[in-house]
Amino acid sequence: MLVLLGVAIEIQIKPLLHLTCMSSSKKPHLNLIVTGHVDHGKSTLVGRLLFDLGLIDQRTIEEYAKESEKTGKGDTFKFAWVLDRLKDERERGITIDLAFQKFETNKYFYTLIDAPGHRDFVKNMITGASEADCAILVVSAKKGETEVAVEPGGQAREHAFLLRTLGVGQLAVCINKMDDSSVNYSKERYEEVKAMVTNLLKSIGYNVAKVRFVPTSGWTGDNVVKKSDKMPWYDGPTLLQALDEFVEPEKPVNKPLRLPIQDVYSITGVGTVPVGRVETGRMKVGDKVIVMPEGAVGEVRSIETHHTPMQEAIAGDNIGFNLRGVDKKQIKRGDVVGPVDNPPTVAREFKARVIVIYHPTAIAPGYTPVLHAHTAQVAATLVEFISKIDPRTGNVVEQNPKFLKSGDSAIVKIRPVRPLCIESFKEFPELGRFALRDMGTTIAAGIVEEITEKYTLEKVAAKA
Ligand code: GTP
Ligand code: MG
Repeated sequence: MLVLLGVAIEIQIKPLLHLTCMSSSKKPHLNLIVTGHVDHGKSTLVGRLLFDLGLIDQRTIEEYAKESEKTGKGDTFKFAWVLDRLKDERERGITIDLAFQKFETNKYFYTLIDAPGHRDFVKNMITGASEADCAILVVSAKKGETEVAVEPGGQAREHAFLLRTLGVGQLAVCINKMDDSSVNYSKERYEEVKAMVTNLLKSIGYNVAKVRFVPTSGWTGDNVVKKSDKMPWYDGPTLLQALDEFVEPEKPVNKPLRLPIQDVYSITGVGTVPVGRVETGRMKVGDKVIVMPEGAVGEVRSIETHHTPMQEAIAGDNIGFNLRGVDKKQIKRGDVVGPVDNPPTVAREFKARVIVIYHPTAIAPGYTPVLHAHTAQVAATLVEFISKIDPRTGNVVEQNPKFLKSGDSAIVKIRPVRPLCIESFKEFPELGRFALRDMGTTIAAGIVEEITEKYTLEKVAAKA
């Protein structure tokens, strides 16, 4: 039965076919997301990192090089293909979905999430960011590429902004493609790009003194795992060493259980197997839990992570589990599991602080984009603009503004079109942040200040 449950986990984690076996680790675990503008070399950098760590052999890379040649792209995607496994990703030469990968540094056990840069797939990036403890922002130093990425509308800006708003506080920046002929490992170009990224990060509220900048080339491997001999002017850590400088966030294990559902599988002989990450608290085999907004109650029969059965899952664990008494129809992506005596909050309306990242004109009350929070996606109306605020000081600069433009920060009231599990950022930061998307782009991101109208269990049942 547990082996069957393992099948479900495998679907979620998408293991690498050619990966050599890695024993389960006693090191602290961190989720790391790799972000940045399309084509800046994220997948290549990660493929190189895994290759130089000895997790992928030379033969596999050579095979990818041959396959890459066949698509008319030369061998330039041989490292990226370690992560880009979908047929479409390979044909188009871009990352579409999230790829998960495990590896270890001296200090930590990492689950790495390679996010797509292409703007059509930002929603996948948001899903990844909402699960990340720390991030790498990859910015190409190649002339022309940097400039596009950090400008308004560029994905380096959009990703950095989303990371910040979604509460991913720890960041390292790889100034990448240092080998490119327009860069030629030059300190001057590195400093120029570093200044551009520093400005960008400062403007969205990052404490840049705590952000590590590393000049890298994923293609040649300079400063990824091995220290480069082509940049004697750089005396900082390699990317691998920089990953050991992140600190382990305190695990909210003593809070009530909150487990947003990422996917639900039906497995013959096992039953309903939901998967997701325990954001707060703990869940034991035998616990009675409630699934919101549906209000279905069930008993936890088994829990598994990365093929290993466990008696108890705690905050930070990515798990699959089996629930007795809950039908597949009663649980879906975006639902949240919690204790029966402290069910996840289901909001009808809430007050939030938002920052408008990008909108071609302006937004007015009544605007209804798609809200993404943890694993949930639902259309939601911005019913009222309470005040416009200075994002840096939090001071009110205008009461009841009539509209909001790119760069504005505001306190607003939001009404999801259907019941949504969401919590105040103060109580559950993990479940209190969200992004608003429309027209294929992220319009705004925000945090929940207060749930102003809740559904009770009875009201949810009546609505269902
Ligand atoms: P998306 O996932 O689609 O956003 O792209 P990505 O950021 O993962 O970029 P990817 O690794 O797929 O690389 C894109 C192109 O840039 C490929 O042609 C790579 O060969 C090239 N490239 C990546 N890294 C480097 C590098 O360090 N140096 C040079 N010169 N080229 C690189
Ligand atoms: Mg990629």
